[in-house]
Amino acid sequence: MLPTIEWRDDAIVMVDQRKLPKVEKYVECRTGAEVARAMTTMVIRGAPAIGVAAAMGLAIGVARSKAKGTTQLATEFYKLCDLMAGTRPTAVNLFWAIDRMKRVFAADVRAGRAVEEVAASLKREAHVIHDEDVESCRALGAHGAGLVPDAARVLTHCNAGALATAGYGTALGVIRGAIEQGKRVAVFADETRPFLQGARLTAWELVRDGIDTTVITDSMAAPLMRDGQIDLVVVGADRIAANGDVANKIGTYGVAVLAQAHDLPFYVAAPTSTIDLATPDGTKIPIEERNAREVTHLGGSQLAPEGASVRNPAFDVTPHRYVSAIITERGVCRAPYAQSLRDAVEGVARETAS
Ligand code: MRU
Repeated sequence: MLPTIEWRDDAIVMVDQRKLPKVEKYVECRTGAEVARAMTTMVIRGAPAIGVAAAMGLAIGVARSKAKGTTQLATEFYKLCDLMAGTRPTAVNLFWAIDRMKRVFAADVRAGRAVEEVAASLKREAHVIHDEDVESCRALGAHGAGLVPDAARVLTHCNAGALATAGYGTALGVIRGAIEQGKRVAVFADETRPFLQGARLTAWELVRDGIDTTVITDSMAAPLMRDGQIDLVVVGADRIAANGDVANKIGTYGVAVLAQAHDLPFYVAAPTSTIDLATPDGTKIPIEERNAREVTHLGGSQLAPEGASVRNPAFDVTPHRYVSAIITERGVCRAPYAQSLRDAVEGVARETAS
């Protein structure tokens, strides 16, 4: 399985996703601040992977601390939590993971544990978060596989694969699950302007797994759908509001509208850690605005003239009425999402679809 992120000795090691597919290079982070920087600069990206990175970053931050006692440690730890929280505001898995780490930290401090013991608990919790994410992806992949017919031609946007998670992937987890059930699947990967996660990362990991992959520019999806060359769409999510509105990579909304116009199913695959019941609907989801240079430049060379204003929202929100189903590790949620998402988060069993 792809090594997205792992804790090796005294470093958090990540494959540098900015360099793929040209070079498979690994970045080693030895402090919490280095991990936060890796998240901001997209060495590691994808909502679940960001959550895992934050957890490991907090744990390594505490492991490296020279604090004399837990009062000093607490000051450092909460400061690092704030640094992590500022890295990628749309990905709710980030806040979910930070909250989990805070709960472990607070329980240990309340129990009077020593600094080294707190560090050990946080490291353990970070590994649990990592391993649970792989399990969730595998489970949601198996649930979603039932929605994929044999010989399906599947469109996906951005990279919601092994690279965006601790392993296996969400949208690509559904594709992998279908293939593991013996189905033939051909994938169309939107290139995903401006950061090209589809062309670079989705295509890289699918080709590596021997999965039939065709890269298209984002603007090719419409005519392919019109010409009957796509059977369904599956994407990941950065945050799903309580009513089922879905924030995902910029361009997803357009794909969802196109899918509905062509009467194609539009599925969202995400672990329950991506569901944010505290956010009532998509209008309340913070959308990260990234550096203009990602739009004006391609591979270091300038495309747009100096002086032009630039917008670079990294995500958009797809209203729930365009979403055919949300596939989680606890089963497939359908409208009305207010109820089905709440049930999934609270662990009530859902339709399995397989
Ligand atoms: O900006 P990115 O590359 O972090 O955006 C990633 C996405 O939009 C993914 O589709 C989403 O995080 C789901 S990943 C399983």
